[in-house]
Amino acid sequence: MGGEAGSEQPPVRPDLAATRAFFAPRATGWEERFPDDGPAFAAAVEELGPPRGGVVVDAACGTGRALPLLRRAVGLSGTVIGVDVTPEMLAEAVRRGRHSEAALVLGDVSHLPFRGASVDAVLAAGLLPHLANPRAGLDELARLTCPGGRLALFHPIGREALAARHGGLVEVDDIRAEPAIRAALSRSGWGTELVDDGADRYLVIAVRSSNCG
Ligand SMILES: C[S@@+](CC[C@H](N)C(=O)[O-])C[C@H]1O[C@@H](n2cnc3c(N)ncnc32)[C@H](O)[C@@H]1O
Repeated sequence: MGGEAGSEQPPVRPDLAATRAFFAPRATGWEERFPDDGPAFAAAVEELGPPRGGVVVDAACGTGRALPLLRRAVGLSGTVIGVDVTPEMLAEAVRRGRHSEAALVLGDVSHLPFRGASVDAVLAAGLLPHLANPRAGLDELARLTCPGGRLALFHPIGREALAARHGGLVEVDDIRAEPAIRAALSRSGWGTELVDDGADRYLVIAVRSSNCG
């Protein structure tokens, strides 16, 4: 990863390298740590509502625990793509057979190799706090989403509980707080349909504005 002349690996941006360093050792056993999240994921996918036969992206899919739910939503005629920047998380997804539910792509959700307006729905579970520039991430998800397409920003626990899990408190300027996330989504070309910033989950549903460029 040094980026020296002759090196086989392309250089990795420092923020992505830090993300990989954090998640790589957590990939094995990731799902065992959160055995009770299934119903919350199922509800979030239902509220996202990927259309049958449509294209849905799981942005930062991790080990792919949402991929079977997304596959069930779009059916066999639909397309499910899981993207993650940490190779070890995707390797764990493969070990769990998730590559039979979805195409798995190693990549950065802020620079996706997809055409504009080519996706019907995006699930982003546990993504925003890990992005160095969350607004750029929302811009990129807007770019690839069709007008009228849908986005779910989701955590299966509330923001305070999540911060406590990492030994801290919610930051005062947290982009996920309701006024901030509505404003950020609006700037990126999304209309906010729902903000559930509850103690037990965080779910924002947004719809891609039809007047997108
Ligand atoms: C908290 S985990 C959530 C994984 C999965 N969505 C879940 O809920 O189990 C965050 C994931 O985001 C991925 N990630 C962080 N930044 C990313 C980026 N810029 N592009 C793609 N994936 C990213 C990490 O590799 C990690 O797998």
